[in-house]
Amino acid sequence: MTQRNSAKKELVYKRIDSCKEVVTADPNRLHYHIMPPVGLLNDPNGFVFFKGKYHVFYQWNPFETKHGIKYWGHYISDDLVHWETAPIALAPDQWFDKDGCYSGSAVVKNDKLYVFYTGNVKDESNNRESYQCMAISENGITFVKKGPVIHVPEGYTAHFRDPKVFCKNGLWYMVIGAQTSKGEGEVVLYSSSDLENWDFLGPLAGSNKNGLHDFGYMWECPDLFELGNRDILIISPQGLKPEGYKYNNIYQAGYFSGKVEYTHVTYDHGTFTELDRGFDFYAPQTAIDHTGRRLLFGWMGNAEEGESSHPTTNHHWIHALTLPRQLKWRHGRLFQYPAEELKLLRKNEMTFNEVNLSEQETKLPGLNGNVFELNISIKEWKATSFSVVVGKNNKISYNQPTNTFSFQRKSFNGDNLESRHCLLKELKSIRVFKDTSSIEIFVNEGEEVFSSRVFDEISTNDGRIYFFVNGMVTADIQKWDLNQVC
Ligand code: FRU
Repeated sequence: MTQRNSAKKELVYKRIDSCKEVVTADPNRLHYHIMPPVGLLNDPNGFVFFKGKYHVFYQWNPFETKHGIKYWGHYISDDLVHWETAPIALAPDQWFDKDGCYSGSAVVKNDKLYVFYTGNVKDESNNRESYQCMAISENGITFVKKGPVIHVPEGYTAHFRDPKVFCKNGLWYMVIGAQTSKGEGEVVLYSSSDLENWDFLGPLAGSNKNGLHDFGYMWECPDLFELGNRDILIISPQGLKPEGYKYNNIYQAGYFSGKVEYTHVTYDHGTFTELDRGFDFYAPQTAIDHTGRRLLFGWMGNAEEGESSHPTTNHHWIHALTLPRQLKWRHGRLFQYPAEELKLLRKNEMTFNEVNLSEQETKLPGLNGNVFELNISIKEWKATSFSVVVGKNNKISYNQPTNTFSFQRKSFNGDNLESRHCLLKELKSIRVFKDTSSIEIFVNEGEEVFSSRVFDEISTNDGRIYFFVNGMVTADIQKWDLNQVC
């Protein structure tokens, strides 16, 4: 298909140039996370290891700091830490994707990169059509669109999107996020022997299937892979109501584990577990790399949340991707570890061994900063509660009598404080990655993760890190400043 390519892309490059000064002047610009050069970023797309390099694409509206017509932005890396900006991969410039090249995935076949994405099309009355489309690249940089390979089947609305393709026993499979005509969320399965001709196999899981009841009106961004001898299905369901500490973000992202029978198109799975407690996490996507690791990126944002009051919008950009994480199956659930390569960012190590934290407020000499990694490993616990405060308003705490782990931040609108929680039998360790305006907290070696954007008043932020303990906690503490690579 000939590409009417570049007029649309040229406008984006002009926009990047014209906003560059304002964007880069933002003190909230992150130091080691993937961000859009201008505009809005949402889902990670097409995450893949191809010809010796990691590629991650992202949903991108370059022209506004809200959702709209989406492009695929593109970054490339040798090590998951240092990312180079690549040219725009996909622009919405064809009849089948004119209102957005929506989310999708990438696979490698015969040394070529195949990407699958949803072409979003709207008519004058805002009626939606969607097409699962394919584009191919030989060099991993320029893509030739081949057009739609799948149309919406009978029984589904046009909320049919986010193809994730993978290979299993010599056959290609695709999972797609769907909404049935009855308004239920589903994941449907297709197969193909050549990536071009796809057979609809049927629904694999859904909001009224396999023991679930009314579990969301739309399931976005599915991902299906094997780990630890199980089939893990990640979805981002919309329409769940909060239940205690669960489902407190606007939309959720989590997984089922179980066994898929590909020949019968069945998936016997357990309950849904959230991957991240928030506040800002959605639409994750995984890839397996040459070392066999299952890696995950998420969108460090959530639909619509806080956009109007998000402080970075004054600087013409919004949102970022999370750090890359490695998934492992342990003790009957997924554990998430920051990718090992993130150690490349470390400098200025500081170590405090066997510190007794027993005061209402303890500061350790020289322990402060705004952009750092902090590891707290608990050696002895004789306390009812433990908190570490990072900056002015970000508080990480564990209350032992109620087994509650919490993260509190200042809201983007005004001064009120807001929290997310989870239950934990015991607090063993906390690993914090703080960037200028984000925090990612890995609890007990990745048993739970909290990812959030945080905005301290820059003028009054002295980068303090201090502890509050009721009782006594003995801990080993390590801190590194982290290099700026973006
Ligand atoms: C998830 C999502 C996807 C869609 C994309 C559009 O955040 O709504 O379902 O493909 O974003 O940007």
